Amino acid sequence: MSRFLAACRREPVDRTPIWLMRQAGRYLPEYRALRAKVSFLELCKTPDLAAEVTAQPVDILGVDAAILFSDILVVPEAMGMELILDDQGPQFPAPLQSRADVEKLRVPDPEQELRFVMEAIRRVRRRLEQVPLIGFCGGPWTLAAYMIEGRTSRSFERAKAALMGDEQMAHSLLGKIADALVLYLNAQLAAGAQALQIFDSWAGALGPEDYAHLGAPYLARVIQSLRRDGQPVIVFGVETGELLAQLAATGADVVGVDWRVPLDEARGRVGPAVALQGNLDPASLLLPLPELRKRVARVLELADRAGPGHVFNLGHGVLPSTPVESVKALVEQVHAHTPPR
Ligand code: CP3
Repeated sequence: MSRFLAACRREPVDRTPIWLMRQAGRYLPEYRALRAKVSFLELCKTPDLAAEVTAQPVDILGVDAAILFSDILVVPEAMGMELILDDQGPQFPAPLQSRADVEKLRVPDPEQELRFVMEAIRRVRRRLEQVPLIGFCGGPWTLAAYMIEGRTSRSFERAKAALMGDEQMAHSLLGKIADALVLYLNAQLAAGAQALQIFDSWAGALGPEDYAHLGAPYLARVIQSLRRDGQPVIVFGVETGELLAQLAATGADVVGVDWRVPLDEARGRVGPAVALQGNLDPASLLLPLPELRKRVARVLELADRAGPGHVFNLGHGVLPSTPVESVKALVEQVHAHTPPR
């Protein structure tokens, strides 16, 4: 069995498995070469190209899992919102403003409106046999936040004002997104995804009591509605130090940790039942190799203290300015490590 799947289940592994959030992306010259010819959304929506980009980091870096090349925002698009992705980052030109706007959203049939995702999964599975494929989606709160803000935000003030103050609006929007995600993730499992990660990236914008209303219950509802045959679920967010116990209680098998909480400390917060994923600061990859090596060794040491069940990853995505040689050195160092039994 793959060491990635074994670590997700807290089973013994010969070497610490590693994959990286945003492992396919602009820091890879092979990705930039393709992107020079087609737009990002075209890449996502052309299954052959999406499959090719998904396989690039496995071939180039030797990571232990592939993550489907797509984006969390294709789901709101399929729910009926126009999506633009350009140099400014992703934007919804007509963000949600009222309960009536929420009423108009559709719950898409993934084999219709998101068929390109399922096709990409089927193609990756046919050509990439050596490592498992991770499917993914955004968390309900994170998607709702984008749909209300219309773009990336520092404080998510519009989304917070809309949802923290209006229980009915919050429930109808988050419930509808959760319904869409259940269908979407179940379709990904049926198409061949061997693990799932839910990116509730902006979880940390909410305090613990608000996350207990607006975040965790909808995540739990999605996870508990999945028709799984052993495929692990990973939940991840940024600045979740005060939310780790809630994330661990959602029914996820693995909790992703950003670089702000040491893994041994994170273990105390999540309890013994889940594996941990993380948590090297992505900026470490911009340092000279000896300094990078020290930081990688430190993450491995703290993970060993946290006990079995560690999937090495960054605390957030690979930065576009990252040297590929540094990522290769990282993978090599992690693969030289055998965790204690
Ligand atoms: O991790 C992977 O390699 C798989 C592919 C993947 C992408 N986006 C590709 C992408 C995944 C898992 C995502 C998830 C995603 N998308 C998240 C959650 C993870 C996180 O970063 O917290 C979020 C918040 C988004 C929304 C999004 N998409 C933003 C904010 C941006 C612009 C910022 C940026 O990095 O350019 C995107 C675009 C995007 N998604 C790119 C890639 C490779 C860059 C597109 C390009 O210009 O080529």
